[in-house]
Amino acid sequence: MARKRVAILISGRGSNMVALIDAAQDPSYPAEIVLVVSNDPAAEGLRSAEAAGIRTAVVDHRKFGKDREAFERALQDALNAERIDLVCLAGFMRLLTPWFVRQWEGRLLNIHPALLPAFKGLDTHARALAAGATEHGATVHFVVPEMDSGPIIVQSSIPVLLSDTKSTLAARVLEVEHRIYPDALRRVAEGRVHQP
Ligand code: GAR
Repeated sequence: MARKRVAILISGRGSNMVALIDAAQDPSYPAEIVLVVSNDPAAEGLRSAEAAGIRTAVVDHRKFGKDREAFERALQDALNAERIDLVCLAGFMRLLTPWFVRQWEGRLLNIHPALLPAFKGLDTHARALAAGATEHGATVHFVVPEMDSGPIIVQSSIPVLLSDTKSTLAARVLEVEHRIYPDALRRVAEGRVHQP
């Protein structure tokens, strides 16, 4: 079966992007990373993608002002130009409109640094600590119009330690993220998981 053509959307560091790129170096992996798109020209992850020989594109949301659909049409054009099958959001910090999400129904994945449905939104590690959570972790899910609410593909947890700070917890969750995102993309690319 042909490998799925994957685009990764980023806004910053891109460590999850690198984990996906590394997994896809294996020729038996069912997906290839053909494009990385950032909404921020300064995103560090763009440099890592270039270093890995992956085509990059910038669709700067600031150029579109408040017109989110115009931003997303430009995004869509970049994806169509590369005949993308699946899109992975990896630290992509723009909310997507229902219009865009519907174009990609069942083919749009996101990673979130918490055990959804707990701690949707931002600053998940500080909120997990403040809530006294004994377990925390990360989730890869299909994207639906409502933020951080789509069907879960893979989720993995770690214990919260009494000694944990926001940064030690974030670092351990990030290790989990780097493990589960390649696993989740594999499952979707192989057709073993579908959006219900
Ligand atoms: C990751 O922890 C990811 O789960 C999170 O941003 C970080 C990006 O790191 N995403 C969200 O919070 C989405 N709402 P990375 O750029 O190194 O992959």
